[in-house]
Amino acid sequence: MAQRKLLNMFALWGLAAASNGVPNIRIVPGIEMPMLAFGTARVSLETCTVQAGVEQWLRLGGRHIDTADDYGTQPDVGLAIKASGVPRSEIFLTTKIPGPIGKQAVINKILHTALPQLGLDYLDLVLIHFPCKSMKDFPNKCGAIFRAERLDTWAGLVELRAMGKIRAIGVSDYSVEQVAEVVEEFGEAPAVNQVQWHLAYHNETLWSAMQQVGTVLQAWAALGGPTASHGVPSISLGDPRLKEVAARNNVSTAQVVLRWETQHGVVPVTATCSEEHARGDLAAFDFQLSPADLDLLSNLMPQTELVII
Ligand SMILES: NC(=O)c1ccc[n+]([C@@H]2O[C@H](COP(=O)([O-])OP(=O)(O)OC[C@H]3O[C@@H](n4cnc5c(N)ncnc54)[C@H](OP(=O)(O)O)[C@@H]3O)[C@@H](O)[C@H]2O)c1
Ligand SMILES: *[C@@H]1O[C@H](CO)[C@@H](O)[C@H](O)[C@H]1NC(C)=O
Ligand SMILES: *[C@@H]1O[C@H](CO)[C@@H](O)[C@H](O)[C@H]1NC(C)=O
Repeated sequence: MAQRKLLNMFALWGLAAASNGVPNIRIVPGIEMPMLAFGTARVSLETCTVQAGVEQWLRLGGRHIDTADDYGTQPDVGLAIKASGVPRSEIFLTTKIPGPIGKQAVINKILHTALPQLGLDYLDLVLIHFPCKSMKDFPNKCGAIFRAERLDTWAGLVELRAMGKIRAIGVSDYSVEQVAEVVEEFGEAPAVNQVQWHLAYHNETLWSAMQQVGTVLQAWAALGGPTASHGVPSISLGDPRLKEVAARNNVSTAQVVLRWETQHGVVPVTATCSEEHARGDLAAFDFQLSPADLDLLSNLMPQTELVII
């Protein structure tokens, strides 16, 4: 009986270890973030609802959820978290406020929209979704324009953090210069910069600069999936060169891509409706790609062919 009980405990422990095999990365002193996030832009999920996708992710051991005011999915995520029964303290919830909207607007957005829609009393990470006035204008389109608005918005997030409503603050789609504005003005770097990042689009200049200031990069469209920008080239999960690396490592091509990102310290934001894919994505940490494979993957798309976004 005692032995039986012990075996059961091990079985449970084994399951927990397998499903929670996602390591954390420290984003600022005292705050750790799981290195794989589930994205909830509706276009990411073709064959399930956002609520069902998030519930499945949580059930399989995923703990990091990425949403945004602009996706309109905060209520769906809130329902999924509630239905999952997973304790709030175990979940890492990221949301985004729509661009450089200014201090008072950001405070209102978080207190009167994000928190009530999510049914939570604090958020783990809030990102300024984009640096320009329109989501489609990437950093190079507005450069130093809207600097004052970006910094005023950051000030609102600092205030919310002081109120205990959010734990960490970051940005999305910021250039090196736009991140530097924050460092210059506030003496702290964004905890995170979430940018487009996949095999066919990765910016080494940005990577080095973020390492230098201590900002963790997150990869959106981590698998080169449905949200990858129009005009940016893609490398499909069926690419024969990718399949060769996958076969040699006895893993799936998606796992290869995710591991290439995490071994560079980049945190993938992916999404899936498929239970099999979700299990695979969450298990993409129990192998190591060799330096030669990492190199090969980084060079699948010649950097000279990158479009400036
Ligand atoms: N900050 C920003 O500006 C910004 C912009 C765009 C996106 N994002 C965030 O990034 C998230 C993800 O974007 P994305 O959807 O383009 O991500 P993605 O990871 O590139 O693509 C997701 C697609 O990959 C498929 N997939 C997942 N795991 C797979 C596997 N193991 N094998 C084969 N296919 C697999 C899924 O299809 P199945 O369901 O068939 O598995 C899904 O359609 C968004 O939801 C959003 O949260 C942020
Ligand atoms: C890479 O990032 C740097 C610094 O933000 C920027 O100047 C450059 O245009 C980016 N390259 C591409 C291809 O987007
Ligand atoms: C390859 O991966 C499968 C599935 O993860 C596993 O069952 C099998 O033991 C692995 N084979 C080798 C040779 O490692």
